[in-house]
Amino acid sequence: MPVLTTQVKTDKSVYKEDSKTQQHGSNTTVKVQLQSVTKTYTNGSHALLNANLEVKKGEFLFITGPSGSGKSTLLKLLYGHELPTQGEVIVDGCNVAGLRGDRLSLLRRRIGIVFQDYKLITQRTVAENVTFVLQAQGYTRKEIQRRLEPTLKLVGLLSKADCFPDQLSGGEQQRVSIARAIVGTPPLLLADEPTGNLDPDNSWQVIQILQKLNSFGATVIVTTHDEQLVRRCNHPVVQVRNGRLSRK
Ligand SMILES: Nc1ncnc2c1ncn2[C@@H]1O[C@H](COP(=O)(O)OP(=O)(O)OP(=O)(O)O)[C@@H](O)[C@H]1O
Ligand SMILES: [Mg+2]
Repeated sequence: MPVLTTQVKTDKSVYKEDSKTQQHGSNTTVKVQLQSVTKTYTNGSHALLNANLEVKKGEFLFITGPSGSGKSTLLKLLYGHELPTQGEVIVDGCNVAGLRGDRLSLLRRRIGIVFQDYKLITQRTVAENVTFVLQAQGYTRKEIQRRLEPTLKLVGLLSKADCFPDQLSGGEQQRVSIARAIVGTPPLLLADEPTGNLDPDNSWQVIQILQKLNSFGATVIVTTHDEQLVRRCNHPVVQVRNGRLSRK
């Protein structure tokens, strides 16, 4: 039995008419570009080599490639966690490397991130983990409540709202990180191996959730090792091999 419940009646207005998202930018979709990007870490590891990529507004893109090929690095460059050694990373019209302070924070507000290692706060409950970013961004208590329940329902975790991360399975923790990334209905969603810890049924349900966000206009970029999942979907695929990108 799949745990996730995309069939659950969701408050679609949370995912459809997001006035809060609109306040943070002129539109609700985001274009992403890498122009001749090379990333070499300070210890000499080469992660990306002269990478070029254009992800159109509203596209759903898979990024595949072997372990260590540079997938996570690519996503980290997009949200400014890492800076390119050479080249330009342009997100929503902004050169990410040139953003500091408030301007970088404003861009990040428009990006939902599912981290490969979840990054949940162990001392906070599921509900608190999902909502703390909204609180920090100044959403009202009422708006946070309006978003929380349908989002937890969507990832099948409503009954676990008051649990702490160490009371959850690995797959459940992964789904908390997905809920946290989508609760603000971001116009750009970056998901790093969002199905890495899930069984096939749950993986498929997660992809359907990401597709739902995409159908409302969000640009979605998903890294995965799951070739079967990629084949099942009809989305464009970029392969990373030794830091080089190629569209399949
Ligand atoms: N902070 C870092 N410092 C130094 N080298 C790093 C760092 N992060 C990643 N690397 C190196 O960069 C390369 C690409 O790593 P990256 O994490 O992007 O790969 P990946 O494709 O996401 O792998 P996986 O599928 O295992 O998650 C690897 O050789 C890795 O060892
Ligand atoms: Mg990775």
